[in-house]
Amino acid sequence: MHIVILPTANCVAEYGATLFIDQLSAKPDSVLGLATGSTPLALYHLLIAANQQQQVSFACAKTFNLDEYLGLNSEHPQSYRYFMQQHLFNHIDILPENTAIPDGAAADPVAACARYEQQIIAAGGIDLQLLGLGRNGHIGFNEPSSGLRSRTRIKTLTAATIADNARFFQTGDYQPHLSITMGIGTILDARKIVLLATGVTKASAVKAMIEGPLAAACPASALQLHQQATIVLDEAAASELADIEFYRHIERENQALLKRLKQQ
Ligand code: F6R
Repeated sequence: MHIVILPTANCVAEYGATLFIDQLSAKPDSVLGLATGSTPLALYHLLIAANQQQQVSFACAKTFNLDEYLGLNSEHPQSYRYFMQQHLFNHIDILPENTAIPDGAAADPVAACARYEQQIIAAGGIDLQLLGLGRNGHIGFNEPSSGLRSRTRIKTLTAATIADNARFFQTGDYQPHLSITMGIGTILDARKIVLLATGVTKASAVKAMIEGPLAAACPASALQLHQQATIVLDEAAASELADIEFYRHIERENQALLKRLKQQ
């Protein structure tokens, strides 16, 4: 794991946006894995601005979102398809047919999960996957106890996740308890992964992910197995890490090495 600790949530978004812009500059037809939730919003704003200022193009890119509520169709304001349209896709030059999100309204959701896996393979696999982190350590909707090699499937949400996401629903609205999510195995197949976590409410999940054992109890700990996973944290999210000075030291060394290599 490459751990980057930055002063503020804005710096985290800027760091994440730079990774996506660099990825698209190096490979315009990249396959991007995307997430919803509060954490990526600032990063999406930066990508929209960069696209509108013609610093980056999504015209040849393809995207796959991590997850969708089961039982909400794409027009539902709380669906993740709606979220992605509002917060990213409607504002950039991506082709609508190149944006994939699990079909929460599928007549046969089990078949839809298998199809999603096939679509990712047919696109050549995900080059760069964006992740947020649940307070309980989930990634996508892979809740604690999820299989560490799981594939796209239907998952039941925990009471904690339902409570955390209740803020997006009006009182009295139907809030789904089921989702379709890429599995942990699906996520680990991405060539590169960047997980963003900000705020003190994520600090204990961050600690379990980085310093805890590899365990289904903290699905994000599976990222310990990935060879190119970058974890970008603000100070608050990093605040429970026991070895924080060591991670800062490694990052300083990395930066110094990069600088020397650039000067050669
Ligand atoms: C959403 C997703 C979830 C969120 C996580 C954190 O597509 O995959 O795992 O990333 O629940 O959500 P926020 O960013 O709202 O704290």
